[in-house]
Amino acid sequence: MSVSEADVLDPRFLQGERARLFAIAWTRATRAMADIRALPAPDDPETECLRAMAGHLAPYSSVPVPILRTPEWASESVMEVLAANAARIAEQSAYQAEQKRNSPVSKRVEMLLDRLGVVEYVEKECGLRLVRVPGEMRYTSYIFYDAPGSFLQWHLDARHIVDVSLLLCIDRLDDRDADEASATYAVTPTGVERFHFQPGQALIFDGAFTLHGRSPVAEGENVTILRIGFRLADAVAEV
Ligand SMILES: [Fe+2]
Repeated sequence: MSVSEADVLDPRFLQGERARLFAIAWTRATRAMADIRALPAPDDPETECLRAMAGHLAPYSSVPVPILRTPEWASESVMEVLAANAARIAEQSAYQAEQKRNSPVSKRVEMLLDRLGVVEYVEKECGLRLVRVPGEMRYTSYIFYDAPGSFLQWHLDARHIVDVSLLLCIDRLDDRDADEASATYAVTPTGVERFHFQPGQALIFDGAFTLHGRSPVAEGENVTILRIGFRLADAVAEV
């Protein structure tokens, strides 16, 4: 008996625990085959396999390719506030999460982001209706790559928490040339894409259907990212 296309469950319909398991399965499968600390050459079999995996995920992604922007709302004064806040939080409450440190932002920072119209900005950039992931989900957080070798291995985000992410670079100190420094990577059907972005620049992508991660920082380097999560308004309404 053959299985028709209509019989295959669309992963966008998976909710809750099923959505979490979907992200775990793809993350484990990718990590079993590829390591972001040793990126393959474009013609390497590993790259071909990553591209094929991205090809399977791409039809479901609500952001076809990652978008790199310099948002107007990330003004000099806003960046100063966020950098000072992140530095304080790094001292006080950051905790180890895999090979990096995380800390949810404060309620005040969440209110600042809402006042700046970050949700509306991402909606416009992506042509989507979105809801920001609430603070208690701990997704809107600072990520600190501040110890030598800190990195984030290939993964998919769990869709029961987040669909679209915005990664705003808050601060970075590179000791190496821009083309060698730690960067965010995303796999698309055309290849492994590198995003080396500066404070004030932001990357927007659908992390639930785009494999992504960060290559390691070296001794003396550090990168601070503000990660803001969004869910599709329609998906939230369905629950
Ligand atoms: Fe992620």
